[in-house]
Amino acid sequence: MNPLKWLGRRRASVLALLAVTTLVTPAAATAAPDAVRASTLGAQAAQSGRYFGTAVAAGRLGDGTYTGILDREFNSVTPENEMKWDTIERSRGSFNFGPGDQIANRAAARGQRLRGHTLVWHQQLPSWVSSIRDANTLRGVMNNHITQVMNHYKGKVYAWDVVNEAFADGGSGQMRSSVFRDVLGTGFIEEAFRSARSADPSAKLCYNDYNIENWSDAKTQGVYRMVRDFKARGVPIDCVGLQSHFGAGGPPSSFQTTLSNFAALGVDVQITELDIAQAPTAAYANTVRACMNVARCTGITVWGIRDSDSWHSGENPLLFDRNGNKKPAYQSTLTALGGSAAAQTGAPSPRSAAALPSSFRWSSSGALIAPKPDATHNIAGIKDPSVVHYNGKYHVFASTASSAGYNLVYLSFSDWSQAGSATHHYLDRTAIGAGYRAAPQVFYNTQQRLWYLVYQTGNASYSTNPDISNPNGWSAPRNFYSSMPDIIKQNIGNGYWVDMWVICDSANCYLFSSDDNGHLYRSRTTVGQFPNGFTNTVIAAQDSKFAMFEASNVYKVQGSNQYLLLVEAIGSDGRRYFRSWTASSLAGSWSPLAASESNPFAKSSNVTFPAGTWTRDISHGEMIRAGYDQTLTIPACKLQYLYQGKDPNAGGDYNNLPWRLGLLTQSNSTC
Ligand code: XIL
Repeated sequence: MNPLKWLGRRRASVLALLAVTTLVTPAAATAAPDAVRASTLGAQAAQSGRYFGTAVAAGRLGDGTYTGILDREFNSVTPENEMKWDTIERSRGSFNFGPGDQIANRAAARGQRLRGHTLVWHQQLPSWVSSIRDANTLRGVMNNHITQVMNHYKGKVYAWDVVNEAFADGGSGQMRSSVFRDVLGTGFIEEAFRSARSADPSAKLCYNDYNIENWSDAKTQGVYRMVRDFKARGVPIDCVGLQSHFGAGGPPSSFQTTLSNFAALGVDVQITELDIAQAPTAAYANTVRACMNVARCTGITVWGIRDSDSWHSGENPLLFDRNGNKKPAYQSTLTALGGSAAAQTGAPSPRSAAALPSSFRWSSSGALIAPKPDATHNIAGIKDPSVVHYNGKYHVFASTASSAGYNLVYLSFSDWSQAGSATHHYLDRTAIGAGYRAAPQVFYNTQQRLWYLVYQTGNASYSTNPDISNPNGWSAPRNFYSSMPDIIKQNIGNGYWVDMWVICDSANCYLFSSDDNGHLYRSRTTVGQFPNGFTNTVIAAQDSKFAMFEASNVYKVQGSNQYLLLVEAIGSDGRRYFRSWTASSLAGSWSPLAASESNPFAKSSNVTFPAGTWTRDISHGEMIRAGYDQTLTIPACKLQYLYQGKDPNAGGDYNNLPWRLGLLTQSNSTC
């Protein structure tokens, strides 16, 4: 986003320039190692925005082989028994958090996610609970347990198994008999989820069960009906955990269907307790691939580290042998997490087989989001959107523009049809403050458990917030750099330093920026040092001024080893459009994908509009991501792009142009 004045002048010479320019990538950049293939389960999973976790037993934390593997391979942990009722509240009202804390604190210190397991379960339940016969007493006891435990771990747990194993095996599709169902009725699950949401609104709330992996099983159908009903009635539920304790045959052939059918209800799905008798390589690979193929399958947890740690140790069902050596299934799991073609043993899966096409077609919505000026905000345009889908909502951040200058706005909505009626929260009223702030980019940093909003202030700046839905939670701006890096000073000419963009792989974070003068810059820091330490600024790509103007986006393509670069250019008609390139690593060299004016990534010429072409500019925007974390992972299929457009007849002061936001949906997706 050019903060000052771009007057939209026509440049007849631009077409000629575009026809002959090629993208120059400095040799220094191409020498960087390919960061796409990671060597551990957690790091590889993180590249698609997922986690790879394990059950952990507090009693084994003194074993160095065990903790060595734990910290090397896994970025999520589930206490195997330490957060169950019979450990935490063995007698009524007396809470023992010691063993759970040991695991939770250890995980927090290492940036590993924590799954809370489990609040309401008929097993490992003390007899003082299972002998209660009075409904009001049991209701009070259950809600108190949920509230106390979730309060204690508030802010530390990524997802809670609120209710575990409540459905019956066999053909009934009904809930099993338990003290909870028998005394409170089948409504106990809803009650538990409602208590859980009010205890810790930031934790994901999961229903967890076994034998719900085969789609046609009555038990699967029973759980599916419950989740569908919860979503329809607004009962809070965010995820379904499929335990996935498999026999040697591995997952049922319908496993991926089951995952995607649950996900289609609007919940995340997670594989929560994976083990497979005898650990066949193909069975593990098939399980992992099913998850990789479902965008909302957010992570996998194996139920223990070494075979000797397993609750079914006689079956040798895990990824490490008794000595802590990697078993063959470890390799097939790692490969399947990387989604490489070599890992495909069965039928190619639609998502991982899909590279991006080399040309694109789109259909556009009309203008969905317009400025909402109020008494103190006289706004002409809403611009530069950043968007994530999180907790069932789209969260959109954008620039507000007027002749008085730029600032930021936040809105959220659950469906695009409601985007126009969402409330606009002006961020100049928060600690972000008044003054020049523009071109936001939002993502969640999983290590730090913080949302980051990156934006331009003249420097590259950011604010953080533990809760994306709270506009008042953003911190005051801080700068990534002490001043403009020298290489930018040397190349910027008469341009402007704009459109800062952060993306991380498992090792490094990169900060990209543009100069309205044909250069894309890239700085680097380590994941551990982020947001500090951005140095090594280089020119990542360059072209003529209008061919590589601004608004660059860089993404990881889910289930592939590709990164995608988009850069906004100015066409021979004076209109904005996007060019695209791919690379196999963030520091690698970018090869053209759809990168010309005649084969653009997105330009009015490859977009169909609803009645009336409301814009001829396809300008500064962002892809709808598959996740929301620092890896900026996008799906490979059915891409969507939120962009700024404007009335083709509007003119005058650049800062006063009537920009609106619209949504492109890819219409030539082959998968
Ligand atoms: C198991 C543990 O692994 C054992 O150590 C314990 O003795 C029994 O529970 N479903 C679940 C897990 O949700 O909590 C269970 O864990 C395995 C089945």
